[in-house]
Amino acid sequence: MSNAAATSESLPFPEGFRWGTATAAHQVEGGNWNNDWWAWEHAPDSKCVEPSGDACDHFWRYPQDIAQLADLGFDNYRFSLEWSRIEPEDGEISKAALDHYGRMVDACHENGLEAVVTYHHFTSPRWITALGGWEAPVTADRFARFAETVTKHLGDRMDRVCTINEPNIVATVGWLLGAFPPGHELDVEGRRRANEVMIAAHEKGRDAIKGVNDALPVGLTVSMADYQPVGGDDAVAKRDQIRRSMEDIFLESARTDDFLGVQTYSRERIGPDGNIGPEAGQRVLDMGYEFWPEALEATIRRAWEVTEQTPLIVTENGIGTTNDEERIEYVDRALRGVLRCLADGIDVGGYTYWSLMDNFEWAFGYVPQFGLISVDRETQQRTLKPSARWLSQIARANALPIA
Ligand code: GCO
Repeated sequence: MSNAAATSESLPFPEGFRWGTATAAHQVEGGNWNNDWWAWEHAPDSKCVEPSGDACDHFWRYPQDIAQLADLGFDNYRFSLEWSRIEPEDGEISKAALDHYGRMVDACHENGLEAVVTYHHFTSPRWITALGGWEAPVTADRFARFAETVTKHLGDRMDRVCTINEPNIVATVGWLLGAFPPGHELDVEGRRRANEVMIAAHEKGRDAIKGVNDALPVGLTVSMADYQPVGGDDAVAKRDQIRRSMEDIFLESARTDDFLGVQTYSRERIGPDGNIGPEAGQRVLDMGYEFWPEALEATIRRAWEVTEQTPLIVTENGIGTTNDEERIEYVDRALRGVLRCLADGIDVGGYTYWSLMDNFEWAFGYVPQFGLISVDRETQQRTLKPSARWLSQIARANALPIA
């Protein structure tokens, strides 16, 4: 990776700064029927806009997709395993599925890419739900066993492992908002238990992975937001309370990890009684939150502080929009925030754009378009967006054009 010197035309990132894009199994593979999300999408009263179906057929098309990613000049690909393929029943392992993901890792290396593998990205096998899901402590043990099994099979081929993607979203959206499985609303006690079990799963999973391959960098990825109090002390107190259970307990767990994955999209305005929604006059995106790219800088700074300087990687940042110029504007401003953090000595090792391609955006279906690449829902035809070529130039130069 070249390191362009500061010039009148560009702002350089440090030597060795990593540039990647990300996906998740259930959002792109297709046919992931043996997990809780497939059941959730097909429930009679499902809140999902549409089912995931074939998604982007990435289970079969990953060779071309990975080659395209490499051709754009990125140096790593973050993708996730589908636990229900690898362990379709409690304790029953599919070696064929393990070999599939091994071939994906090999495809990354054949294309000069590092393989950043997420072991759990929102979806759990149906049998985990039957065991009690993320409220049951046994799930943390089953996840640790799964992590050990995978690492024994793939451990010396992967370059970096994210144990669990956004445990805070799984717990909050599943137990407070009701938009993710199991669909509880305002179940504060259930959400507290889910937070606890997910933190235990991360820690036990991390220890299991390091027990197999101590040299493998392992970390957690946390969904973060720039939580801004609006109003007086009551708003500040409410913001602190929300942030504690949404972020701090996870960031504290990451203090002994090799890295923390920061995943940020926007800000949240907090009044004395909680989230007060977007500010009048601000741009609001398909997902209902504000166009606020500066949130990335704010959350990097907070993660650095609360983790007590665990090395950071931006493992997700992006925008769901049909306006590709707006995508470029968003990423440009987000990257300027990353540069300001780097200038202040914060250890940010890389930037991962979410997502490589338009995909299944959970309960929102295929409406929000986060991808650098569009996917024709009928033909699966991939088409590069202008933002793909724009970010490709930045990744190749390891520098941000000033103009
Ligand atoms: C998340 C998940 C991704 C989303 C992305 C856009 O952060 O919610 O990691 O699966 O698709 O963030 O919302």
